[in-house]
Amino acid sequence: MSEIICIANQKGGVGKTTTAVNLSASLAGNNKKVLLVDIDPQSNATTSLGFSRSDYEFNIYHTLIGSKKISEVILKTSIKNLDLAPSNIGLVGIEKEYYNAGKKDRELILKEKIKDIAGEYDYIIIDSPPALGPITINALSASDSVIIPIQCEFFALEGLAQLLNTVSLLKKTINPTLKIRGFLPTMFSTQNNLSKQVLSDLTHHFKDQLFRIKKNKECIVVPRNVRIAESPSFGQPVTEYASGSKGSIAYENLAKAIIVGA
Ligand SMILES: Nc1ncnc2c1ncn2[C@@H]1O[C@H](COP(=O)(O)OP(=O)(O)OP(=O)(O)O)[C@@H](O)[C@H]1O
Ligand SMILES: [Mg+2]
Repeated sequence: MSEIICIANQKGGVGKTTTAVNLSASLAGNNKKVLLVDIDPQSNATTSLGFSRSDYEFNIYHTLIGSKKISEVILKTSIKNLDLAPSNIGLVGIEKEYYNAGKKDRELILKEKIKDIAGEYDYIIIDSPPALGPITINALSASDSVIIPIQCEFFALEGLAQLLNTVSLLKKTINPTLKIRGFLPTMFSTQNNLSKQVLSDLTHHFKDQLFRIKKNKECIVVPRNVRIAESPSFGQPVTEYASGSKGSIAYENLAKAIIVGA
């Protein structure tokens, strides 16, 4: 079966999409069959892989409302081994439907839909929106684990307690096996003392939950890197756009840590 990993943090702009896209591409580069599910109405992951609205007729919204199977919305990307279930701004409509009274098991819709194709992929990576609403709850309910990107900036840990509470509530209810796969420090800047402070706080609080390629090795930190910021506008993961760059190496290391289960 596939390992399903959700990238989540309700704080906006912390590197969720960047992590989802580049981790997916790096796993694919390691000969793993990967499906990236874009479940954010902003559709940034879809755009980052070079797709524009006119390139696809159906998206994950159609799957969630039941008019298309997930296999019918999946697109092949230009990267070998990497498929995409795209999103579209229309996905905002799902929240309204979700709140329609009487919808049974509404937290489990995505989980049900993913079951159809789960055996076809080694990894399914889900990029979630910056909110703890129904879409993110569906994403977390469908996942084996969650990666939480933390931006190395002021207010980094703000709202984290709420996210961790949500995860533990889901564990107690509909997804008992949900794990925190790890915290990923993002946009780390060596010249910035605040960045260093946040990283030191993270290391202090979550020492055993940071990613490492090998035990007792340094933890994986994604640097603030211009190549990472540029790559979406070229419709490419940084691993393709600027392989060998510091940003690319960080995500390649993250993929290795995931594969070895560190
Ligand atoms: N390591 C990095 N170095 C430089 N820029 C980065 C880095 N990581 C992300 N960015 C840039 O920061 C912005 C926010 O990143 P991203 O879209 O991945 O965050 P997000 O958490 O998905 O945002 P949202 O909450 O809106 O979905 C983007 O413009 C992205 O290109
Ligand atoms: Mg995003």
